This record gives sequence, structure tokens and C-alpha cells, in this order.
Amino acid sequence: MEEKKKIVYSAVQPTGRLTIGNYVGAIRNWVRLQQEYECFFAVADLHAITVRQEPAELRRRTLELVALYLACGVDPSLCTLYIQSHVPAHAELAWVLNTITYVGEASRMTQFKDKSARHADNINMGLMDYPVLMAADILLYGASAVPVGADQKQHVELARDLAVRFNNRYGETFVVPEPLIGRGDARIASLQDPSKKMSKSDENPSASVFLSDDRDTVLRKFRRAVTDSENCVRYAPEKPGISNLINIYCAFENKSVAQTEELFRGVGYGDFKAEVGEAVARVLTPIQTKQAELLADKPALSALLNESAERAYKTARRTLFKVYRKVGFYRGE
Ligand code: TYM
Repeated sequence: MEEKKKIVYSAVQPTGRLTIGNYVGAIRNWVRLQQEYECFFAVADLHAITVRQEPAELRRRTLELVALYLACGVDPSLCTLYIQSHVPAHAELAWVLNTITYVGEASRMTQFKDKSARHADNINMGLMDYPVLMAADILLYGASAVPVGADQKQHVELARDLAVRFNNRYGETFVVPEPLIGRGDARIASLQDPSKKMSKSDENPSASVFLSDDRDTVLRKFRRAVTDSENCVRYAPEKPGISNLINIYCAFENKSVAQTEELFRGVGYGDFKAEVGEAVARVLTPIQTKQAELLADKPALSALLNESAERAYKTARRTLFKVYRKVGFYRGE
């Protein structure tokens, strides 16, 4: 009998402009995983509204993100690529999971604390519920692996805890998922403050390289990246700036840290930064061209999304109804 493929789930929010951190931490790995596993990749628009969004912009960014996934090599013939809000089961399962999530554990989540500090005028219930909805995403599809950047590890761990808790209380229902974190600890840092992660929402425009940046902008941002005074391309914890640039170079050139250090032995920071910029621009330019081509044919994107939402819902609904039965919802004789 053919062995059943392992299931992989991940998503990105259609908020702000995506950075090379999102690419390295998430999307790039998906392209590899789809060859081997049964993959579900979503545009997490339900998550996006936990911070204020301008509706027309959210709509535009959602489609742009779909086109970006495709341009990066996510292949709808190998995986299911859909928009989260097209599948109602996500919100429905989140409701049930809410009833086994403790307020204490949700309020201890690092991202909730960070976002509450950043959006002090809008600490809404959805912000606190964010990881529960994320658990619903993952558990609906029976995913055993969740490829994310290091910043999302805590959320996947909560999904694990909820899966185990539900199974203990109601009987075996959910697959217990694991985070799948890429190499280089999968955390691309800000180019201006390497103690922080590179973020879509950084106020300093030189801190993040966006997937939409043109070659000149990419080169300029790397030229300005904060390093140290040693002027030696060497990976070390006390040199977070240059170590981050080495990580980025490794990710974009598919090289190891040792290979990169060897390649740039005796080369100064100025030249190395230029090479990192070129390596990133070489990957981004064709992605941008492809994304623009895809966005020129919106009916084709819509057709694809309708078809994949149906496929996703079929799997999700099966899990949801199992959950409804387990918790005791009456569904007729
Ligand atoms: P989002 O949109 O904030 O981030 C998307 C992905 O990018 C990764 N990432 C990074 N990786 C490395 N370095 C960085 N500087 C960096 N910044 C962001 C994030 O870890 C993430 O993998 N909550 C998710 C979206 C989501 C989800 C899910 C993920 C919703 N439901 C279910 C997995 C499974 C998020 O962080 O989106």
C-alpha cells in the first residue's frame, strides 16, 4: 500500500510589504516541501485584521500575495494555495479551541505582548486570539509539520499543546504538529539593528529589504547595513550585523557559512555588502517580473483560488465535523 504523504501547513499575512525575512523564513522552504509532502499554503487574511487594515488595501495585498507565492515557485498543481477567509472552517474551529485555551497562556505569548505594546490603542480580542486561530489553521488539515520562521515557534507550540489537550479530553482527533525551522536559525535580522528581526512594519525604511525593492534600492540598503569595525567576513555571535549578512548570503546563494567565509577571506565589508546585494537582487528581479505578469490576469487567479478553496474546505470540513461530534454537538440521527 502506498504510504500516506505527510501534511505540511503554512501561511503568511497579507499585511505590509513582504521582506526577505518572510521569503527565507517561509515561502522559499515551501517551494522545496511541496515536492515531497501534501502542502496547504494560505494567505492569512483573518489574521491580518487583528491590527487595523485599510479594506481596499487589504484586498489588493491579498491578491498580490497570491501572485507572489506563485512567482516564488509555489505550484498549485502540487499543493493547495488558498485564501484563509474562503474556508469558513478556520473561524469555526477557532471557536471550539477557544474553549480549551486558557486566558493566561494566550496572554503570555511574546507576539501578543509585543503587538499590544505597539498597538496600545487597539488591543482587541482578535489580537489575543491570533495563536488560537493559527492552531485552528494547522489542526484542520492534520498537518504534522509547519514551516515558519523562528518568531512563530511559540505559536506552533501552542497549537501542539491544544492538540494534545483536545485529544486527552475528547479522544484521539488531531495530529500533533511540529514547527519546521530552517537553518541559520531562520531569523533574518534588521539591517539597521541586528538585535531585532527584520519586519514588514519597521519604521526605518533602510532596516528591511522588501521583495518589491528594485536592484538599486536593494544594493543601497545593503551598503548602509550596520556592521562592526573588524572588517573581516566572519560569523560570530558578537558580530550580529555581519553574521546576519552572511546568513542572507547563504540563503540566497545556497551556500554554507564555512563556504561563505572561505569565499570572502581577505575581502572587506564594502565589497561583501555589494555581493550580498547582488545575490539578493538576482533572485528578486525575476520574481517581481513574474508577479506582475500574473497580476495582469486576475480572472485566472480568481479561478485558481475558487478551485483551491473548495479543495481546502473538503479537508477542513471533515476535521471540523469530527470535532463537532466529539464535543457533543447534535447533528441529527
Ligand atoms: P507573518 O506574515 O507575520 O510572517 C510570515 C512568515 O515569515 C516568517 N518571518 C521571518 N522569518 C525569518 N526572518 C524574519 N525576519 C521573519 N519575519 C517573518 C514568519 O515566521 C512566518 O513564518 N502567524 C503567521 C501566519 C500564519 C501561519 C498560520 C503560519 C497564520 N496561520 C498557520 C503557519 C501556520 C505569521 O507570522 O505571518
